[in-house]
Formats: sequence, C-alpha cells, structure tokens
Amino acid sequence: MRVRLLFILVVATVFLLDFAQCQKKEKEEPRPAAEKRQKKKAKPPGAKTAKPVVKKTKATPSRPRPDPPLPSPPVLTQVLERGKFQKVGDSLTVQAGDTLELRCKGKPVEWAFPDYLEEEDEGRLRVIQHSKYSSLVLVNSTGADTGEYICYPMYCEDSDCRREYDRAAKTFIFFSDPQELFVPSAEYYEVVQLRTNRPATLPCQVTSPDAMVTLHREFPPEEVKVDGVEISFNLKKGFTIHRPKAHHAGSLFCMASYRDLRQISTKYMLIYVNYPVAPPSPTIRASLHSVHAGQNLQVTCTVLGESEVVIDFTWEYPGQKIGRPPYTQDSTWTLRSGGQTRQQSETVLMVDGVRAVDQGTYTCTASNLAGSTSVSTTVTVLPERTARSRHH
Ligand SMILES: *[C@@H]1O[C@H](CO)[C@@H](O)[C@H](O)[C@H]1NC(C)=O
Repeated sequence: MRVRLLFILVVATVFLLDFAQCQKKEKEEPRPAAEKRQKKKAKPPGAKTAKPVVKKTKATPSRPRPDPPLPSPPVLTQVLERGKFQKVGDSLTVQAGDTLELRCKGKPVEWAFPDYLEEEDEGRLRVIQHSKYSSLVLVNSTGADTGEYICYPMYCEDSDCRREYDRAAKTFIFFSDPQELFVPSAEYYEVVQLRTNRPATLPCQVTSPDAMVTLHREFPPEEVKVDGVEISFNLKKGFTIHRPKAHHAGSLFCMASYRDLRQISTKYMLIYVNYPVAPPSPTIRASLHSVHAGQNLQVTCTVLGESEVVIDFTWEYPGQKIGRPPYTQDSTWTLRSGGQTRQQSETVLMVDGVRAVDQGTYTCTASNLAGSTSVSTTVTVLPERTARSRHH
C-alpha cells in the first residue's frame, strides 16, 4: 500500500518537474538528487563538473580571436612512488585509500573533478600551481571519488582568463574498493524519466573496471537482457536505454560482481513519459467574423494530434483589456480511424453579449511538452441590429 502511494506521488512529481523542465528548454539529462543539491552555481554546458569562469565585460568590444592551429592538450601525468612518473591515458585505476597525485603542464590551468569532491571539506584534496605545472593531490581516497578528472589550460588576456574547453586533458579514475563495488549514493532510489524522444541512463557507477555489471528488474525479478543495441553498458556511464518504450518502465537496479562479492546499486524508478514528436498544430475558427453588438460569439481552437499527450491552451483576446473574465469550455476525445488512434483537444472561448471592445484579434496558443504554436483570427463588431433589420 505504502509503496503504491509513493509511486503515485513520484509520478505526479515527475509530471510537475517535466513541465518545469520543458519551460527551461530541457538543458540536460536528469541528474541524481545528490548532485542537484550541489548545483548552486550555473555550470557551462558540456562541463558538468566545471566551475564557472568569471569573464569581466569590457567597455571595448573584444576583437575576434585569430584561429591558429590549436596546440595539443596538456599532458597529464601521475606521480608514482619514489619520484616516478607515468603518463595517464583514457582511464586509470587507483586503490581506494591510496593517494592520487596528478600533474598537468601549463600555467595557469584549472581542474575539474567529481561534484562530490567540490564539497569536500576534510582537506583531502589540494591543488597547487607551480611555475610550470599544476598538481592535484587527493589523500585517503575512497570509491566515491571515482569519476572524471579534467585539466583545462587557461587562455588569458591581461587578467581576464577562461578555460579552453577544446584543449582539456581528461581521464576517468576508478578508485577501486574491494568492499564497495558501486559509488555510494545518498538516495535510496532515483527517478529516471523514459522519454520516447531521447535515451535514458541508469548511472550505476562502479568503482572498479574489473567488476561485472548486470541489470535487473525488481518485479517480476529477472535479469534484463543487455544486447548493446536496445540497451548498452558503459563502465563510465552505466546503462543506456536508447529508445525508451513503455515496457522499460518499472523498478530496476544494477548488480556488480567481483571475485566472490556481489552488490546491488541504488534502485532506479523508471517512469515512462509519452513525449510528443512535435509541437501541436492548432486551428482556430470564430462562429462569426462580423458580429453585431449584443450577439454571442464563440471562438474555437482545435488540435488534432497524438493520443495521450496533454495539450494546454491559452487565449489572448481584445476583451482582456477591460478584464472580461476568461470563460472557456475545454474538451478532449479520442478518435479511431484506419487503425490509428488520434486525440482531439478543443477549447471554446465564449464571449456573451459582444461589445465594441471585443473587436480585434483572437489568439490561441496550444502547448505540449515539445513546444507551442499560436494561431489567430480577427472579429469585427458591427452596430447593434435595429428592430427593422431583425425583421427583414
Ligand atoms: C588520512 O587518514 C589518516 C589515517 O586515518 C588520518 O590520520 C589523516 O588525518 C587523514 N588525512 C586527511 C587529510 O583526511
């Protein structure tokens, strides 16, 4: 019973979130709540863990920078014991508990690391800029430090510096912990939206690249087939469902096995959202284009489209200026034709006892999750009919 109620609540929340996100023109994938909490600062797109670069606005417009061929990214090296160095590749594995020391050539440079470490306040992480390189030192590492570590060379004009994103040196570091196969999550479960129009990710992150990871459904309990096409797995990202369908919805979790240890990840609540392929295409029709004062007018706005897609209507009309109360009749029904199910949504704006102020343009805006479209029509108001013309 409890679980069911919770599920309903979650669904309702997701829909609300969804509308909010739509308004924000959906910038990024949904991220775990723990990370969201830390996103106080606006972060540049494509650099999730990046710190914002403060760019001072100058009075004089800055000249476009000439485009010399880009120098290669700086070299990342790992400092090993006894003063040995090792060039760092695409990924690196460090035993949890050990100290990580990375060097990045250049001055100045900036580092980015998992969000979790930005909040680190135990003094485990230190960054020191030397004259020719910058060093990042992380002591008493844990599996939770697993993630991408990036060194950005800085481009400076006077004291005005910004990151050169296209020259960043990146590496993914696993802090392998034989006791914790998954990077710990603060949440008991995470909600993942399945939208018809984009891939969904279950970000179960392992701490060791040697862990075997499988995907499981809670009810009915079964292992989910990962064929690399419909669903694929990436050690640094987790599982991706490429074209989400309604049947993928439910409660899922990842399982990692390493040697004789098996652990499960946080649970992922997958919720399916039927995402429209396009914004609606409304049509508008006034019951009369020329209406005599005193008569009633109806303006109808209709959308014929995909079923199970919510359409929101808003109106702009001349009577708004004098505060005519909005008075509409909305309806939605399903049409079946030729094996196809379509949905017709309609709103009728009722203007009773037309007055001169009601003359003008009537605009209806229809919106769904994919966008909105407006259509207009104009109405002319004629003088009130005389008794003679009425009997004509
Ligand atoms: C690292 O761990 C050691 C041993 O537990 C402890 O004494 C030390 O204070 C820790 N250092 C930091 C910076 O947390």
